[in-house]
Amino acid sequence: MKNNIVVFFCLATLAHALAIHQVNAANDLVRQLCQRTTNNNLCLSIIEADPRQDLKNSPNGLCTILRERAVSNAIATSSKISNLLKTTTNRYAVQCLQICADSYQISIMRLRSADFRVISRQGYVSLAGGVAVASDATHDCEGTFTERPGTPPSPLTSENQSLEDVVRLVLEIINLTICNKVASCFAIRSKENKILNKRNNQPEAGGGSVLTLWVLPRSVDSEDATVGCSGLTGKVVSSATFVI
Ligand SMILES: *[C@@H]1O[C@H](CO)[C@@H](O)[C@H](O)[C@H]1NC(C)=O
Ligand SMILES: *[C@@H]1O[C@H](CO)[C@@H](O)[C@H](O)[C@H]1NC(C)=O
Repeated sequence: MKNNIVVFFCLATLAHALAIHQVNAANDLVRQLCQRTTNNNLCLSIIEADPRQDLKNSPNGLCTILRERAVSNAIATSSKISNLLKTTTNRYAVQCLQICADSYQISIMRLRSADFRVISRQGYVSLAGGVAVASDATHDCEGTFTERPGTPPSPLTSENQSLEDVVRLVLEIINLTICNKVASCFAIRSKENKILNKRNNQPEAGGGSVLTLWVLPRSVDSEDATVGCSGLTGKVVSSATFVI
């Protein structure tokens, strides 16, 4: 009987040690990735506040946790916007807030549809592009408050900033996962339209497919230019070409 208790006690201690070991291993990966981002404190605080240890042993899991924080930020901002719309009387501010309501809905949708199961070069443009649109949309919202004189200052500046901060973490972790660097995974097509090989600055022979990412404005209201891209039309705000 005494032996059984000792054995039980040993097993329990062992199981406990193993569990701690697993948690530490998971936390190590989390810490290493967070440390390499440009905002270690924010990254760690979000990860540590999340109880789901099973999501803490892969970059995909980290992105999922961060994404959920971004979504809940954006949802909170959406309800702030609804409340502001009930009390705001300035005509211009109301118009801005209506645009912001749409912007934050786009953000939420884009963040929710990001699929982190496979973070790969092949999927980079749609994954990172989709996530980036989430903060582009909130920048649009901020921008509307500066367009017309007489518009009061944006009441959503800190919300814009905090969503941007979390979204940047997701993008940085995607880059770290794909190319082990925070910034710039891919060679960008030079102005002369040559693909430069990053290592020796020589034009790259053949190899690698070229993808162009068009960033279109949130709303399509310009008549001067139309550019088609997967069914979207509008004036191109910016574009970047990646060699993948
Ligand atoms: C929204 O926040 C981002 C991140 O700080 C910033 O770069 C951007 O300029 C802000 N938008 C506006 C219009 O202030
Ligand atoms: C990630 O890499 C892409 C492609 O090279 C780059 O354009 C982007 O700025 C990087 N993202 C961040 C958050 O640095």
